[in-house]
Amino acid sequence: MTFEKLWGDLLPVGRYGPTGGYRRYSWTAADAECRAWFVEEATRRGLTVETDRNGNLWAWWGAPGPGAVVTGSHLDSVPDGGAFDGPLGVVSALAAIDLLRARGARPVRPLAVAVFVEEEGARFGVPCLGSRLLTGAISPERARGLRDADGVTLAEAVAAHGLDPDALGPDTERLRSIGVFVELHVEQGRGLVDLGAPVGVASSIWPHGRWRFDFTGEANHAGTTRLEDRRDPMLTFANTVLAARKKARLAGALATVGKVHVEPNGTNAIPSAVHAWLDARAPDEETLRAVVGEIVQAARERAARDGTGFAETCESYTPVVEFAGDLRDRLAGVLGGAPVLPTGAGHDAGVLAAEVPTAMLFVRNPTGVSHAPAEHAELPDCLAGVAALAAVLEDLGCR
Ligand code: GLV
Ligand code: MN
Ligand code: MN
Repeated sequence: MTFEKLWGDLLPVGRYGPTGGYRRYSWTAADAECRAWFVEEATRRGLTVETDRNGNLWAWWGAPGPGAVVTGSHLDSVPDGGAFDGPLGVVSALAAIDLLRARGARPVRPLAVAVFVEEEGARFGVPCLGSRLLTGAISPERARGLRDADGVTLAEAVAAHGLDPDALGPDTERLRSIGVFVELHVEQGRGLVDLGAPVGVASSIWPHGRWRFDFTGEANHAGTTRLEDRRDPMLTFANTVLAARKKARLAGALATVGKVHVEPNGTNAIPSAVHAWLDARAPDEETLRAVVGEIVQAARERAARDGTGFAETCESYTPVVEFAGDLRDRLAGVLGGAPVLPTGAGHDAGVLAAEVPTAMLFVRNPTGVSHAPAEHAELPDCLAGVAALAAVLEDLGCR
């Protein structure tokens, strides 16, 4: 019953009624409520909760120390995200501890549940911000200056929640204390459906990144400006989106433009600027670099024809992740030969994998839909995920 209770208590937090999706952005009221829920549940279990210098939460079963077995995920969401992406890993971690205790297992090394800040990058633009800060994959200077849509900096946002912005940054001692990190996550595709398995083990993560595209032009009247006199950044933007789709298709990559800001955003005015964000992913880094290069080139050429301006900035980049083969095989073995599969989705586990032995468990998603309200996992599969995580934690940390 423990999974259902934990899940049910967290479910209403940050849900946006009109869409049924979640708006749990870091360092907002909804996020604070999620964090408070975690602290309460961890404390109820006698775990020792601490907030690290980057705002990530750690709940320890036993004293913190070297060789720790750490599990966990994140509680923030994309705009109108699903209930499972992130929270399934956190809820399952607490439920797995309950399960281990119920069968009398005790850790022989420190065991912790971690909740990482701003995994989705939905507020400040850089995904896996908490784990990137922890590992040093982003500099504290850059992180402090990141701004949300209202111009609030990360430094201001963390300060408003009682964290010292000057303390943000790599946490080497904490990082070195992690012996192994295992993140359980809802699968964000249909791999496990096709394999007919409730739980799988991750093999790799596609390299991916985010590029900000700024198209600039000349604001003018929609009713009086001849087409040939216009410098319309919307036109350049639209052609670039089509080019991105085509280049990605030809390269076997993925390109998505899901976020766009138009200035001044008036119906009867040619825009002065269009700001758009490209999310690109590919099976390997060479393909990713090539496809992004081609999209940028297409945007430049189109801008030259349209008389508009174009500039691009890489806001985040995550290299290909190959999870440690021995750990992956050990987990698959503990789980009785669970299938091993890759993913195109990014995770804190992917960032941590560069520094510590890391693995991931996936729980079957019947439709494969994710980053949307329809994201789902059936209860029996969630419970299979909890049992799998408990078995893995027991193997890694309790004997
Ligand atoms: C995170 O979920 C991502 O892959 O963008
Ligand atoms: Mn996500
Ligand atoms: Mn996630």
